[in-house]
Amino acid sequence: MKDVARSLSRYRTTNNVVTEDSGMTRIWNLPLRIFHWGLVACYITAWFTRDSRYLDIHIFAGYMMIGLILFRLFWGIAGGPYARFRDFSFSWRQVVDYLRGILKRNPERFVGHNPAGSWVIFLLLGMSGAMAVTGLMTFGGEEQHGPLAGLLTFAQGDRVHQLHELLAWFTLVIIGIHLAGVVVESLLLRENLVRSMISGFKPATANAVSGASYRKTGIAMLLVIMFSGAYWFQGYSISTSDNPYRPFVGPELADNALWREECGSCHLAFHPSLLPERSWRRMLLEQDSHFGEDLFLDAETIAELEAFLVENAAEWEPTEAAWKINRSIPANESPLAITGTGYWKEKHQEFPDQVWKHELVKQKGNCAACHLDADKGTFEDGAMRLPAGF
Ligand code: HEC
Ligand code: HEC
Repeated sequence: MKDVARSLSRYRTTNNVVTEDSGMTRIWNLPLRIFHWGLVACYITAWFTRDSRYLDIHIFAGYMMIGLILFRLFWGIAGGPYARFRDFSFSWRQVVDYLRGILKRNPERFVGHNPAGSWVIFLLLGMSGAMAVTGLMTFGGEEQHGPLAGLLTFAQGDRVHQLHELLAWFTLVIIGIHLAGVVVESLLLRENLVRSMISGFKPATANAVSGASYRKTGIAMLLVIMFSGAYWFQGYSISTSDNPYRPFVGPELADNALWREECGSCHLAFHPSLLPERSWRRMLLEQDSHFGEDLFLDAETIAELEAFLVENAAEWEPTEAAWKINRSIPANESPLAITGTGYWKEKHQEFPDQVWKHELVKQKGNCAACHLDADKGTFEDGAMRLPAGF
């Protein structure tokens, strides 16, 4: 940042044309640099928010990335020297020649992107686009949110999700190659490429042209990013402990007064969509020995409860949780505990033991201690958090 400030102040009076005695040429204009570091920030943010509890931040990083890529496509045509795609479209032959130069420790110096670097950059742009598309599809399918909600099933969303993760790992490898390239070129040419990407300037060479800084475009970009963030996260500013903000609100699920009364007095009324039909049937059949308790239900009550539970069981897949829990139960099993199902265990296995002993949690079945929408049964992403201190 200091570099940016310094370079801006140093060259402000020169009206975007670099003075000769500075010995420096502006190579990367401001919008290009904002794009570059913005994309870096998106990748880092998205990587560390890949767990479902941070989905709203993850999705924001994804939308930012889409915006940045669209901008880059435009800037690849209109962005002036060194930013335009045609200025760094090299043939495979040129890439090979350049790499030969590297091997001989004497690479040709390109003030803009070098041939090998430019191929990696096109690849990274393509991968970012693919990440964005598969991300949107996962969001629409698995979560039924976003512009593609309703167009894909949970199963399709889940498959795209796997592809999304695979692409993320692959992109990580390409980022590694990109970073290695930056290090190698910086060492061999003895110039600090990272600093140039911050300040925008490089030592001048005879054939280099100095581009405009496009400062207004850059500032407009920063403003758009800031306002998008404020808009996306505004819910947190009106969030109270009584009424905490939930970034995603799921569908209105089926409800029943008798069920709430009979099954919600000792613990949370676990929504029927959290277990399959056969589990509910078995639970009512064994109602006189319900986890060590006798529920003392009469035949009429059992009949009404069974109708409601079976009609809205996990097989009907009203939510991602229902679909995934159901999928994780072997066909020959009828578990009575939601906390005993494969999917539940998978999603909660990483928490330390102390979490379950916490005075606000105490029991694994105390879903509402962590899930803001446990009572509604939706178990949306971004609506859960561990008790304070974890
Ligand atoms: C008299 C109190 C009581 C009533 C009423 C009751 N339960 Fe329970 N239920 C329990 C206890 C105790 C457990 C075990 C809790 C534990 O060990 O975590 C339990 C556990 C469960 C679980 C497993 C939760 C988990 O950990 O995954 C489900 C599902 C469940 N009950 C459903 C029902 C349904 C459906 C009804 C209404 C027909 C009902 N319960 C009524 C006492 C009750
Ligand atoms: C101690 C806190 C805690 C308790 C208690 C708890 N959960 Fe969770 N649960 C979480 C957290 C945190 C996550 C998110 C994990 C992650 O980020 O991948 C989660 C994830 C989930 C998910 C996956 C959501 C998704 O789309 O990825 C489901 C479904 C779920 N919990 C259901 C339940 C149910 C049902 C209960 C009660 C039987 C329960 N949880 C009890 C903390 C808790």
